[in-house]
Amino acid sequence: MKYIIGNWKMNMTAGDIVEFTRGVRKYKFPKNSNVTFGLGAPYVYLLGMAKLQGHVLVGAQNVSQYEKGAYTGEISAEMLADVGLDFCIVGHSERRTLFGETNKIVNAKIKQLQEYEVMPILCIGETLEEFEAGKTKDVLSEQLSIALKDVDKSSKIMIAYEPVWAIGTGKSASVKTIKETIAFIKQKLTEILGEREHIVLYGGSVNPGNSSEILHTDGVDGALIGGASCNVDTFMKIASTLF
Ligand code: PGA
Repeated sequence: MKYIIGNWKMNMTAGDIVEFTRGVRKYKFPKNSNVTFGLGAPYVYLLGMAKLQGHVLVGAQNVSQYEKGAYTGEISAEMLADVGLDFCIVGHSERRTLFGETNKIVNAKIKQLQEYEVMPILCIGETLEEFEAGKTKDVLSEQLSIALKDVDKSSKIMIAYEPVWAIGTGKSASVKTIKETIAFIKQKLTEILGEREHIVLYGGSVNPGNSSEILHTDGVDGALIGGASCNVDTFMKIASTLF
C-alpha cells in the first residue's frame, strides 16, 4: 500500500474544495490500486469533508496537547474523534519553528490522539545546517525518541520524513538520501515501538516531476505533499506516477 497524503496548510476556501473534489472525478485509477489518499484540511472545513471519507482519509493538521477545558482557541483530540477524523498531522516543521512546538509537546499530542484513536502522522526532519553538518541521524533520533516516549506501541501511526530544507523550496532530497534516511528511521522505530509494520512517508517538494522516483524508492510508503496538493491536477498526477 502507498499513501498519498495532502497537507493543505492554511490554504483553500470552501469553493476551492468543491472544485478539487469535482476535479478528482476526471482521474480513473485501476480498481484495488493499492493507493490510499488522504487530505489534511483546515479545521473549519473538516465537517464538510466527512462525505469524502471512504474514498480518502480526512485529517487535521494540528491538535491540542491538552485534553479539555479552559484553552481558548484549541481543538482537542476528542473533538477530532467526535467528527470521525482518520488522522492528524503533528510536529510539522512549520509548527515547530513558527509556533514553538517542542518534541515534548508533540509527545503529549500523540498521546492525546492515541487516547481517542485518531492516527497521528508524526513529521520529523533536519534543518539545512544540521544536514550539512552530518547531524541528520542525531536529530531524527532525538525527535523520534522524545516524541514517541511511552506512547501506545501497538496503535496506528505514520511517520513523515520531511527535511526542513526541502519543504516548499522546490528542492527535494535525493533518492539516495531518502532511501538511507528512511531505512534509518525504520530501524529506530523498531527499537522504540518494536517489530511491527512501520509506515514512513517522504515529504518536501514532491511534485509530478519527481514523484515517480521518490515513490518507487525502497522503504518509501508514500508522500506527504504540501504545495502540490492544493491543485487537484498536480496532486492526482503525483499519484498517477504509481501506475
Ligand atoms: P511541500 O510541503 O510539498 O510544499 O514542500 C510538504 C509539507 O510541508 O508537508
